[in-house]
Amino acid sequence: MERDRTSSFPDSGQVHPSRNVKVEQMDRRQFLAASPIVIGAGASVASAQDYSDYTKDPRPDVPEGTCTAGSLDGEVFAGPPVVSGPGSDCVFILQPLQRTATGHLEYAVEDGEWNRVEALHAGMRPMSEHVLKFRLPLLPAGKRIRYRVVAHTIGWIKVRQFYHGVMQAGKPQTSSERAFNSLNPAAESTSFAVWNDTHENDETIAALQKQTTELKPDFLLWNGDQSNDCHFERDMSGQFLTPSGLAIADQRPLAYVRGNHECRGPAAWSLPEFTGSQNDEFYYGFRSGPIAALVMDTGEDKADSHQAFGGTAAYANMQQAQAEWLKQIVKEDWFKSAPHKILFCHIPLWIRRQKPGVFGGHSLCRKLWSPTLIDAGIKLVISGHTHTHHWMPIRDDQPVAQLIGGGPNPASATLIHGTADAKEIRLRVLKLDGTSAADIRLPA
Ligand SMILES: [Fe+2]
Repeated sequence: MERDRTSSFPDSGQVHPSRNVKVEQMDRRQFLAASPIVIGAGASVASAQDYSDYTKDPRPDVPEGTCTAGSLDGEVFAGPPVVSGPGSDCVFILQPLQRTATGHLEYAVEDGEWNRVEALHAGMRPMSEHVLKFRLPLLPAGKRIRYRVVAHTIGWIKVRQFYHGVMQAGKPQTSSERAFNSLNPAAESTSFAVWNDTHENDETIAALQKQTTELKPDFLLWNGDQSNDCHFERDMSGQFLTPSGLAIADQRPLAYVRGNHECRGPAAWSLPEFTGSQNDEFYYGFRSGPIAALVMDTGEDKADSHQAFGGTAAYANMQQAQAEWLKQIVKEDWFKSAPHKILFCHIPLWIRRQKPGVFGGHSLCRKLWSPTLIDAGIKLVISGHTHTHHWMPIRDDQPVAQLIGGGPNPASATLIHGTADAKEIRLRVLKLDGTSAADIRLPA
């Protein structure tokens, strides 16, 4: 392996990270005498530096030149990115990776110049094995936003001189240029597509993707239970960003909604790395034309004390926090001025049947949220979870209309297509063969 030995830790007073010894404490003659390494003729003097204690070799099992962490140079990108947010004040772009990499994002408004977006933390660019995630600055509404990701691999190579080897960067790679339209709160009309409970069913996802591409909605909302559980981080790009290897939201923003299955499994704590939403929480609001949308997180479908959660569940705290958040956000002008106000959440707030031990409709969320929802003029809840599509108009014991999408299997799956102008919102529940299972119109 070739590398420039003279460029690493030159004798200029830098501190070797593993031994905390300043090179300048030794003069060069003493230093060479102390060095056990002899490099062939022509090697620089500095190449003989050895600060390592080989009695502490952390990887005696691997030879020099072995990549012991990260990745060697090679293809970085693992499929198309996802634009998530979806409001133009909160857009993330997530790029799946197939090798450990670092990088940055570049974006341009319409045909303008490229701007660079970093994802820094404490002076460090991101380094990830699975996904790079960038938050864009405030975007102008209703504009075409072009973007691309620049990344390169990062790996550590075992060399004799340094206790944990040296970092090696791969060649920079630039992803294909893509574009999406930022949402426009002032638009006279808008449209959206809702998927729910896809549960990693490839046939269903492919059909939903095809329908969505043809409908060209302003945004896609994925209403929970994208997965069966979150067990391995290595699978999560495939579960949440490139399901079935498809580009689901590289050309339109995605509104992500967490389902109860995304609360499950040892990698469930890593979900925010693979999703993009305000403050990495799964409740937020946004405006698209005449629609004010709220997304809320119904959490699990059993009580926090259920033995299945092993003492890890505290969703009741989150539901209470959302109730307080809800009271504030409905006072904001962007929300109050919208002709149509919709809540998206995975578990319905009202379900007529009730399984023992499982929330039939999410009773705690209903109790905590519905007074504010009603006062604020929410006219519709769009949910999933039951795997059976169901239109539930207002009735005496259900003060807000509710539309539930279908299930994971192609026979039960649905796409909810919403279109709205200032006068009405129309909701078509489409089966995968394109036939309509319901056609609903709600006036402003
Ligand atoms: Fe569910």
